[in-house]
Amino acid sequence: MSNLITKTTDLAMAITLEYISEGDVVIDATCGTGRDTMTLAKAVGVCGKVHAFDIQKSALEITGERVQSCGLDNVELHEDSFCNMGSYISENIAAAAVFNLGYLPGGDKSITTTADSTIEGLEEALRIVRPGGIVTVVMYDGHEAGSEEKARVMEWAEDLDPVGYHAAYVNLINQKNNPPEIMWITKKKQHYQERRRGINGRQ
Ligand SMILES: C[S@@+](CC[C@H](N)C(=O)[O-])C[C@H]1O[C@@H](n2cnc3c(N)ncnc32)[C@H](O)[C@@H]1O
Repeated sequence: MSNLITKTTDLAMAITLEYISEGDVVIDATCGTGRDTMTLAKAVGVCGKVHAFDIQKSALEITGERVQSCGLDNVELHEDSFCNMGSYISENIAAAAVFNLGYLPGGDKSITTTADSTIEGLEEALRIVRPGGIVTVVMYDGHEAGSEEKARVMEWAEDLDPVGYHAAYVNLINQKNNPPEIMWITKKKQHYQERRRGINGRQ
């Protein structure tokens, strides 16, 4: 196995893949150039589905071409904000949701994720991910907007209910040029199963 610690984005995906099986529904909240979408589509296989979101048509076109060129037809593209993922996917369904914050590589740097919408999207993702599922966030601290967004997202994650979620964060502390920082939030299976049984029991 390669040294995953050298590239935090690969580490983020490697851990995410541990939570995904063939046939699962997963979300790429910010598909961009479609790199993560492709990896997820291969992981869920022909019986699974990837819902890929981006607010930029150009990102969806790049992603669409990429998945088509690999013969994958298990990707549904949504030209929409990740805040609206609940319009397409039911609660407690997805195995995983991945967020790669910032702007489209090679694209317009002014079109970027923002702290408010990212937190709204993450809350929506936690609702849609099934108990036992995972939400992954790749954050960029190297520029002012990204740094501010990261700080807000970290604050939000630190306040998550510890009974319902585990939140973890990794940063390469001795490297230069601000490599991407990563965070995972898992939705505790036992807690949500018991809560659902409790709610059903009262009905
Ligand atoms: C860093 S890029 C994603 C990179 C991507 N994972 C890849 O493999 O190329 C961030 C993307 O988020 C998109 N974006 C920004 N705000 C968004 C929102 N509210 N909902 C969905 N996508 C958004 C941008 O258009 C951009 O393409």
